[in-house]
Amino acid sequence: MRAKKSVAIRRAIDDYGSEILANPHMEIERHSLQHGTVTTYDHSLRVARLSVRIALFFHVWAHVDRSSLVRAALLHDYFLYDWHDSEPWHRLHGFRHGGFAVRNAQRDFELTAIESNAIARHMFPLTPIPPKYLEGVIVSVADKISATQETLSPQRFRTLHIAHMIGVIHTRFTHQGFHS
Ligand SMILES: [Fe+2]
Ligand SMILES: [Fe+2]
Repeated sequence: MRAKKSVAIRRAIDDYGSEILANPHMEIERHSLQHGTVTTYDHSLRVARLSVRIALFFHVWAHVDRSSLVRAALLHDYFLYDWHDSEPWHRLHGFRHGGFAVRNAQRDFELTAIESNAIARHMFPLTPIPPKYLEGVIVSVADKISATQETLSPQRFRTLHIAHMIGVIHTRFTHQGFHS
């Protein structure tokens, strides 16, 4: 049953997501960090897979626009910059990036109304207007779950710990090894 679901999820991403994943702008997402050590590309894929899983779990897979669900999930963070860079226009990223993402996506792809709405409103309830369609609600829920998993992942803390240890060793080495 579990294996069957995994195959269905993989097939849905292949069938509906290939145009988006092949777009050259995805290179920016592959090099931009989203949560912890997870790139925006990997986060978007995770949200797409989880969106399909949620639709299957709640038995609404037959009732949603499958293509719009997968595509909106893959494009929900298509803002195309690393929000950790301290550019002035990255301020209030949480509130504004849904708008950036939908504008970029409309420029690069032919979007359905469901896709545009889901991308623009995925940050609800941080932004005040909820998604209009079921597909958008699913993407928004999948995004919150994925963001929480990525932010709290043990891998993140391992990496932070290693970075901290490298910093400690580097400081000791430069201050004691070279200067004392
Ligand atoms: Fe987002
Ligand atoms: Fe997201």
